[in-house]
Amino acid sequence: MSLQIAIDGPAASGKSTVAKLLAARLNGLYVNTGEMYRAVAGAAFKLGINPKTNPQDLIKHLPEWTLEYRLDEQKGCLELFFNNQPVDHAFLRSQEVSAIVSLVSAIPEVRDWMLQKQRDCAKLPIIIMEGRDIQTVVLPNATYKFFITATPEERARRRLAQGEYPPGTTIEEIARLIAERDRIDSTRAVAPLKPAPDAFVIVTDNMTPDDVVDKMIEYMQKNPRP
Ligand code: CDP
Repeated sequence: MSLQIAIDGPAASGKSTVAKLLAARLNGLYVNTGEMYRAVAGAAFKLGINPKTNPQDLIKHLPEWTLEYRLDEQKGCLELFFNNQPVDHAFLRSQEVSAIVSLVSAIPEVRDWMLQKQRDCAKLPIIIMEGRDIQTVVLPNATYKFFITATPEERARRRLAQGEYPPGTTIEEIARLIAERDRIDSTRAVAPLKPAPDAFVIVTDNMTPDDVVDKMIEYMQKNPRP
């Protein structure tokens, strides 16, 4: 039986940072399902598709597209490939992609298309998978479930510090964009963002990423699984 750690939480909660650190500490492999949705949103953006008004234009492409994580033996990590090309991480985190990704991920056909690809990753021996619906939908039987969050002000501060926004963008503007994405992610009909009833919730304000990982490891040690 493999060790599956499901980490969910809202935008800019710091879950990617802690998921990567946890993977390094446990010698496991890290899967970022947000990046998978961003890859599809990036393809839609390049084709000029409006996912809100014309989801069908995107859905019709799904059967021709491929998306998979491949193991990079040298680096010892997984790399995401879209249509057999490594994804462009900077483009996937651009404002253009961020602006439409929640609309793309709310399309039920896109989520259906994604599900098996994400579950296939979980066949690896130690997997740390991060997203919005990992503990509730993708891996409901995960060994451990963590819900990582922070107050909206703290999340806006963290995103500003990441430097993904054009110079001069205010913290209020970032908070507004994050709140809008949270609203869409939490209220969508399919697989909305929410903690599983058996999740360990960590509110990470005033904690460093290492503090959060320490807390996760302590929880796992105190709650050994058979
Ligand atoms: O890094 P950040 O918190 O900005 O978001 P992300 O993890 O890159 O995810 C981008 C978007 O993909 C989210 O806002 C969701 O709309 C969607 N997503 C999802 O619906 N389900 C997942 N398991 C992961 C991401």
